[in-house]
Amino acid sequence: MTTTATAAARVATKRHLLMCPPEHFTVRYEINPWMNVDVAVDHGLANRQWERLRQIYEELGHRVDVMAALPGLPDMVFTANAGVVHNGRALVSNFTHPERQPESEGFLGWFREAGFRPASIAATRNEGEGDVLTVGRLMLAGVGPRTARASHQELREFFDVPVITLELVDPRFYHLDTAMSVLDERTVAYYPGAFSQAAVAVIEQLFPGAIRATEEDACGFGLNAMSDGRNVVMSDRAPGLTKQLEAAGFHPITTDMSELLKSGGSVKCCTLELRS
Ligand code: ARG
Repeated sequence: MTTTATAAARVATKRHLLMCPPEHFTVRYEINPWMNVDVAVDHGLANRQWERLRQIYEELGHRVDVMAALPGLPDMVFTANAGVVHNGRALVSNFTHPERQPESEGFLGWFREAGFRPASIAATRNEGEGDVLTVGRLMLAGVGPRTARASHQELREFFDVPVITLELVDPRFYHLDTAMSVLDERTVAYYPGAFSQAAVAVIEQLFPGAIRATEEDACGFGLNAMSDGRNVVMSDRAPGLTKQLEAAGFHPITTDMSELLKSGGSVKCCTLELRS
């Protein structure tokens, strides 16, 4: 562990992010274990939590693009699932569940309008940055309930980057970004219980000193965080991980995401990084 590092040693870089307001957000279907149609969502609170997140990013100096939410698509607020954007190219998600499939066209339209080239919908099942985390020139890609193994080859070809396959084994952590967080180009935090033994071995080999989160903090969606290399914007429900990050020299900024959590999403899910 890099426990001797100080916050001053960690360097933040400005990011370009895409968000979509929770205008039509609700829980009216269940496609992950956290969703329960019988639990009411406080819509006003969801909006305030989302606005606060956007404000945190802007205060950190990041550029935030906001796209219009489409009616009838309650999960569009989770722009991490819009696709993967790297080198100005956008590979738009090919969603597993019919409930989310119409989002692809909406996201594709936005990417095209914004000038990403090429921009196309993936041929294989793939839920974007939900399952693909970029570390330097490397992509870490989950394979599990939402993303097919075959999509990793499509990612390699589309972006011309190495893609490391990591197998997810716990249904509660249905997207890679619920179980792993990229903190900087050499450091990740993750919850080992969400991964196959082989994946844990790969992670430990690639990232010696990876920060290991507890099950409790992972269930508080603490790993569903957005780091700029220094500041880590994250759920306020992962106190143990918050302390671990501080000890490693990062600067956690916690925020309440209670309403989005009812859909199985938190900070990172509401954020797509547009990598030029
Ligand atoms: N309700 C959404 C779904 O199940 C939540 C998506 C969260 N996004 C993420 N990147 N993990 O698809």
